[in-house]
Amino acid sequence: MTTPFVAVLMGSDSDLPILQSTMGVLKALEIPFEAKITSAHRTPAATHTYVKDADARGCSVFICAAGLAAHLAGAVAGLTLKPVIGIPLDAGPLQGMDSLLSTVQMPGGIPVATVAVGKPGAKNAGYLAAQIMALADPGLAQRIRSERDANAESVIAKDAKLQEDLKG
Ligand code: RP5
Repeated sequence: MTTPFVAVLMGSDSDLPILQSTMGVLKALEIPFEAKITSAHRTPAATHTYVKDADARGCSVFICAAGLAAHLAGAVAGLTLKPVIGIPLDAGPLQGMDSLLSTVQMPGGIPVATVAVGKPGAKNAGYLAAQIMALADPGLAQRIRSERDANAESVIAKDAKLQEDLKG
């Protein structure tokens, strides 16, 4: 019986700082993951080999981040039936609009769940992968619920402080 895991792929080591947000979410929720630098354009054969191997070893969700003409998520989606989450990155003069369109505009039948450009998307990719894995893992679902509740409590506490400050 293999342990399900998430694969976090990025097109370049220059993407790594943003992907730390994704890996931080997965770590905090105790989700096993692998991370790999592999490019749809520069290392297409290695990308193909990795995705097929990870798929066979029990990868449940692929998260793929790339900038510029970002084809990594789409290329991976064409190789697997597992859910693929695409993170468009701001890596050039078009500030991520190029990678957003390259990632989101997939042809029918080969979906990529595209999140926001950059760091908020990188974070949400981790949460979305977690929510997918939680469908088969009640303990994980509970950890996600606890984190949501803690976030809500922190917003309420910040508002309470603001109201106190306004009075004073
Ligand atoms: C994309 O090109 C990568 O995902 C990265 O966002 C961008 C620039 O890559 P480097 O030239 O910094 O390696 O493939």
